[in-house]
Amino acid sequence: MRFNYLFICLTLVFLGCKESQEEPKEKQALIMAERSEMALLMNEMYAFNESIKQQILDGTLSTSYPEKFDNIHSAVLTNPSARDLNFESFSKLFLEAQKELFESPKEELITRYNNAINACISCHNVKCVGPIPRIKKLLIE
Ligand code: HEC
Repeated sequence: MRFNYLFICLTLVFLGCKESQEEPKEKQALIMAERSEMALLMNEMYAFNESIKQQILDGTLSTSYPEKFDNIHSAVLTNPSARDLNFESFSKLFLEAQKELFESPKEELITRYNNAINACISCHNVKCVGPIPRIKKLLIE
């Protein structure tokens, strides 16, 4: 019984964290429909940072911090037991870094942007390694 439960948890972890980068577009859309609230939020965070990366490079950053990112504290995870103390402290560090970007003097924008992306990666190193290669592409070299 206990063993079965463990098995289900592990399966969920793998489903939640699987690398989807190489999937064709239609298949990706199908899988999206089954994604957890957290996975959807993560995809929004990805898309948002991708778009501000371009704005920072063009010198036209015009967005503000998306308040909905605060939902990282409550969004339902594919594997709810992943939300432990570690997860909470990584969430806090990430949100702080993401917010600091929008209070940044122009000359520190790139550093602060990369700080936020490195905060994504720190949590992923511990919680969900699959998407890390994709997240690294967000960094400004
Ligand atoms: C506090 C830990 C934490 C932080 C910070 C974090 N992530 Fe995640 N991320 C996760 C976990 C856990 C999952 C798996 C979510 C699930 O399946 O419910 C995930 C999933 C993802 C996924 C896969 C989503 C999918 O469709 O399956 C991507 C892409 C992603 N994160 C990108 C990012 C980006 C980009 C950032 C920073 C802007 C970030 N993450 C910050 C923990 C984190």
